[in-house]
Amino acid sequence: MSALVDAQHARAREVLGSEALAYYESGAGAELTRREAEAAWSHYRLRPRVLTDVAAVDLSLDLLGTHLATPLLVAPTAYHRLAHPDGEVATARGAAAAGALLTLSARASQPLESVAQAAAGPWWFQVYATRDPAVHRGLAVRARDAGATALVLTGDTPFVGRKPLSDSLGIPGIEDMVAVNSGAHLRPDAATDAADQWPSATTDLVAELAALTGLPVLVKGVLRGDEAARCVDAGAAGIVVSTHGGRQLDRVVPSAVALPEVVAAVGDRVPVLVDGGLRSGLDVLTALALGARAVLLGRPVLWALAAGGAAGVRELLDTLTDDLAHVMALAGAPTLDAVTADLVTRIERPVE
Ligand code: FNR
Repeated sequence: MSALVDAQHARAREVLGSEALAYYESGAGAELTRREAEAAWSHYRLRPRVLTDVAAVDLSLDLLGTHLATPLLVAPTAYHRLAHPDGEVATARGAAAAGALLTLSARASQPLESVAQAAAGPWWFQVYATRDPAVHRGLAVRARDAGATALVLTGDTPFVGRKPLSDSLGIPGIEDMVAVNSGAHLRPDAATDAADQWPSATTDLVAELAALTGLPVLVKGVLRGDEAARCVDAGAAGIVVSTHGGRQLDRVVPSAVALPEVVAAVGDRVPVLVDGGLRSGLDVLTALALGARAVLLGRPVLWALAAGGAAGVRELLDTLTDDLAHVMALAGAPTLDAVTADLVTRIERPVE
C-alpha cells in the first residue's frame, strides 16, 4: 500500500459522513472478495532484469486510439459529490492534470456535459443496462456527443449486489444525485436499483451500443477467459477484468487470479485492463506484467477526492505513476512494452 493512499484514506475517514464512508468502503455479502483483492496481488513475485538501461522510463501508451501519459486510469464510481462538493468535475480536473484517463460513471452526481467540459483530458463513459433501454441509449449518445472516446459496459450488474453494511438510501441528498443523469425514476437503494437494471441484458448490447454511438465498447466485470472471448466475439473492443470492488457477487476469483486467464484467451485480440485492490506501483507493475495494458483505481480516487478535491486526485495519480516508474526501473523495464510476463512468478505461500 502506498503511504499516500493510506494517508488519503485516513483523511477521508475523518471528513466523510459515516453513511458515505460505509457506502464507499463496503462490499457485497460477507465481503470476502473485497477483503481479498489487495492481498491477491502480493501472491506474485518479481523477477527483475539486471544491467539494463533505465535512465529514461517511459510510461506512455496508446489505448483504443488515445495517447495516454500513464497506464493508471480512474475507475467508474458513483456519486462523487458524496466525497466532495465539486464532485466529478474535481475528479476530472485532477485526472487531466495527471494525464490520466477518467471513466465517468453512469451514476455520476453531476451532468456528464459539465464533467466533460472540465475534463481537459480524454475520458470514457460507463454504461449500465437499464430496464428502459431509452435511458442507457440516451446516456451513451449524450456521452459520445460530449466527447467520450469509448464506452465501458458494466456486465456484472444485472441488478445491484446486496451490501448488508450500507444502505445508500440513508445518505442525505442522494436522491438528487441519482436523478442528475439518469432521470428521477432511478433510485439508489438496492431494491429499486434491482428494478431499474435490466436483468435480461445480453452480449447483443455490445454491438448495439457500438452501432448506436460509433464508439469502441469495453466490457467490464469479466473474470473468465471463455467469457472474455464471448464478449470479444460479440464486438467488445476491450475487456476490464474486475470484481466490481467486491460489490456484486461475493467469493468470486480475485482480479489478480482471473487476469492471466483472460489475457491468455483474448489478449492478442483486444486490450485487457484490470481493477480491484491496486494500491501501489508494485501492484500496478504486477498487473501489467500479467498482461494488463492499463489499470483502473476505484476507492483510492474516492479517498483522494474526499481528502483534497482535484488536487488530491492529481496527487494520488502523480504519486502512483511516479511509484510505478520507480519500480519499473528497478525491475529493468524502461517502457510498458518491456513489462512482460517473465517479470512475475506466482508463489504458493506468500508472507502476509
Ligand atoms: C464502484 N464501482 C462501479 N463500477 C461501475 O461500473 N459503475 C459504478 O457506478 C460503480 N460505482 C462504484 C461505487 C463505489 C463506491 C465503489 C467502491 C466501486 C466499481 C469500480 O469501478 C471498480 O471496479 C472498483 O472500485 C475497483 O476496485 P478498488 O480500486 O476500489 O479496489
